[in-house]
Amino acid sequence: MYTLIGLPGSGKTTIGRQLAQLWGMGFVDSDHVIEQRLGCSIAAYFAAHGEAAFRDVEQQVIDEITAAPQPLLLSTGGGVVLREANRLHLRSRSTVFYLQAAPEDIARRLRNDTTRPLLKGQDPGVRLRELMQQRHALYLATAHYTIKTARLSVTQVVRKLAMQA
Ligand code: S3P
Repeated sequence: MYTLIGLPGSGKTTIGRQLAQLWGMGFVDSDHVIEQRLGCSIAAYFAAHGEAAFRDVEQQVIDEITAAPQPLLLSTGGGVVLREANRLHLRSRSTVFYLQAAPEDIARRLRNDTTRPLLKGQDPGVRLRELMQQRHALYLATAHYTIKTARLSVTQVVRKLAMQA
């Protein structure tokens, strides 16, 4: 099992899909599984129940997915590393890649994105820098490999990942 972690907008889902196809394995996006289980969008759930309730569901889903025996490529939500249980499960049950993107590059890409509750109503560049400061060490501690994605195309990142695995 392989897992991609990194900031929101760092390309986990796009790159994960391509890599899973290349390797001929199943692809799972934990945010998608969470939304199916909740029956609503993560943004709506955040608004109604708050972040802690969302993190509880996320922890449960990560535990279940990482316990699956078949080879999978898992793309995670950017905050997955905030819980110690997730960090332990991901690192011990899968090979973890940290897609390290520059907050400024992500902010440019996400200019018109309205689906990410943690970026809502704030300057995305400022908020992403803040998230990076809070999380960078956690991403590094959870990952077996770190891929810096600045100036690389999706295809180039996929190739780099495939070479390290
Ligand atoms: C979050 C990132 C989101 C989603 C939720 C919380 C975060 O996933 O899990 O909104 O805390 O960074 P993406 O990284 O796919 O945007």
